[in-house]
Amino acid sequence: MTISLAGEVVVVTGGAVRLGRAIALECARAGASVAFTYNQSAAQAARTLSDLQATGNGEQRFASFQADVSQSADVKALVSAVQNDLGGATMLVNNAAIFRRTPFATMTEADFDDHIAANLKGPYLLCKYFGDVFLAQEHGSILNIADIYALRPLKNYVPYCLSKAGVVMLTQTLALALSPHVRVNAICPGTILTPSEIQDEDDAEAQLLPKIPLGRLGTPQEIAQTAAFLLGGPQFISGAVVPVDGAQRLR
Ligand SMILES: NC(=O)c1ccc[n+]([C@@H]2O[C@H](COP(=O)([O-])OP(=O)(O)OC[C@H]3O[C@@H](n4cnc5c(N)ncnc54)[C@H](OP(=O)(O)O)[C@@H]3O)[C@@H](O)[C@H]2O)c1
Repeated sequence: MTISLAGEVVVVTGGAVRLGRAIALECARAGASVAFTYNQSAAQAARTLSDLQATGNGEQRFASFQADVSQSADVKALVSAVQNDLGGATMLVNNAAIFRRTPFATMTEADFDDHIAANLKGPYLLCKYFGDVFLAQEHGSILNIADIYALRPLKNYVPYCLSKAGVVMLTQTLALALSPHVRVNAICPGTILTPSEIQDEDDAEAQLLPKIPLGRLGTPQEIAQTAAFLLGGPQFISGAVVPVDGAQRLR
């Protein structure tokens, strides 16, 4: 199935680097105009914007915006900026997140607050304010990037797992609340590393591979292709929580 996002305006949070960058580029390749956010990675954002512009067909528009997704003022300003610069969003990918190792003995209240703010409050605010736009125009699609560790626990990552479990429930409740005109889905990636990280982290890879039945790490491109499919593929998919993990969640 060839996915076309022609005519859509996709907003990707945390789109300057890694998975968010791959998702932004894949949406552009599928014909969408793309706005992405960054928080601190201004240099990487400039590079991603330039790479997006190089993929465009002349009718697509591209923009990057600085925003802290946990701040409602930033999210409201983003909605307005996308309206002004790209004519309004039709699709949203909540990708930005933090991921910190927080063993029980040393985890703090700040660890909880930081993960909930970036990983759950952020997607909540973006879904609320872009969801209002999508409902008003009776057209929209939302994709939340969760994690297989929203579905099963990861011992030394309590606040992260809590935040991502919330993202799964956000997806499912909003699939009901925003129907019938707006679809809401989630991807639960397994362990995904970029090619440079795989080269740099041979030891980590060796430790991880036995846990992944398909015998390899996932790639950002595989997450991005799934994102394009859930955004622009069969229009009967909503409330789906899709693992892309080489069956890692089953081990
Ligand atoms: N990589 C994996 O193996 C993996 C596995 C499972 C799930 N995931 C999920 O997939 C998504 C992408 O993963 P990744 O590894 O590519 O992510 P990442 O590189 O760790 O982070 C993505 C971006 O999130 C942005 N961000 C963090 N807090 C923010 C805030 N408060 N406001 C705005 N932006 C904020 C950062 O932007 P700036 O750099 O601009 O500050 C960062 O570049 C995340 O939701 C992650 O939890 C990843």
